[in-house]
Amino acid sequence: MRDSVPHNQGDVVKALILAGGFATRLRPLSCTRPKTLFPIVNKPLLQWIFERLSKDGIDEAILAVNALTKFYIKQTKIPKQGLKIKFSVDPPKKPLGTGGPIKKAEKLLGRSEPFIVLNGDIYAEIDYKKLLETHKKTKALATIALCKVEDPCSFGVVELEENKIRRFVEKPARGQAPSDLINAGAYVLDPEVFDYIPKGKHISIERDVFPKIVEQGRLSGLIIEGLWKDIGKPQEYLEANKAVLDTIKNTKKDEKTCFKVNSPSALDKDVSIGEKSVIGPYAIVGRNVKIGKCVSISNSIILSDTEICDYATIKGAIIGEGAHIGESAKINNGCVVGDKVKIKDKVQLNEKTKVCPAKEINF
Ligand code: GDD
Ligand code: MG
Repeated sequence: MRDSVPHNQGDVVKALILAGGFATRLRPLSCTRPKTLFPIVNKPLLQWIFERLSKDGIDEAILAVNALTKFYIKQTKIPKQGLKIKFSVDPPKKPLGTGGPIKKAEKLLGRSEPFIVLNGDIYAEIDYKKLLETHKKTKALATIALCKVEDPCSFGVVELEENKIRRFVEKPARGQAPSDLINAGAYVLDPEVFDYIPKGKHISIERDVFPKIVEQGRLSGLIIEGLWKDIGKPQEYLEANKAVLDTIKNTKKDEKTCFKVNSPSALDKDVSIGEKSVIGPYAIVGRNVKIGKCVSISNSIILSDTEICDYATIKGAIIGEGAHIGESAKINNGCVVGDKVKIKDKVQLNEKTKVCPAKEINF
């Protein structure tokens, strides 16, 4: 159901989704897909983002990407949820950072209404209507969604007074964070912000623009409630999936099966499971995965079209698309296996092993 957001009749509310980063920390999985298409409980992250924007009455999403990401997104055919979708592509071999793409999309965003900008690599239950309302009330130049985290140092950290941001420090050194309140990666910006960003340059909104707006006392913050997960690193990606899975209804137990699925787990369409296999808890299994007999999978994500042969064990790992896990193979905690990898029978991968796409691993 789409709700309406507070805006003048006839005006269109737009969101710019920043999704042109290279996700180096998520290799090898990001060698073959951009971060915004990583599945979260068997649905691409971008689809979750579209659903939330649409629910909050946003009319149009502009995807700020590079050419390769655009290609992958188009190929994935995500349901548009009633949103008008446009692309704004960084120049070839010249990534524009997190600020440059905003300037690049100036014509598409227009100068008549405030707009939303969000990082395409976070799963967040943000109330965009409330963020827009707060922005309009405080008459700020930018309003940032904020959330609390235990270790703020790998984020943008703020000092907040009432709803005014007094300081914005991007990735402070250990011990230097002004609080545990971080930039959740979603903002409402006034079109005036275009005047703060030079054209055609790599600009960081966090380092080059927000501190200037703070100086003028025109940066506001809104603390958000609800789930917020960054998927920057493999462990965080796994944790995000588990947290979202916890919010979804548990898997039904079917007593008649000759295998066991422990809740919570999520099995996508056309998954086959052999006898005496134990799946879950926290097994997230993509479409068309074939699981043999006496297989054990827990705390793991298995992407679609993968085959897991008899007696294999997968614990705390992420397995890419179209992979083959041989008979009696053991994949341990923290392992990340790229797309189309072949792990031969009886191979054991030590903890935290990363295997590049399409590799074959023998004894
Ligand atoms: N189009 C385009 N071009 N998009 C980009 C580029 C680029 O050159 N570089 C990064 N992006 C996109 C990424 O794809 C991502 O969705 C978003 O911009 C943020 O970039 P990251 O590289 O993921 O930044 P980060 O995670 O280190 O930090 C950011 O996110 C944190 C929240 O997760 C900052 O905004 C922090 O302040 C924030 O706390
Ligand atoms: Mg990020």
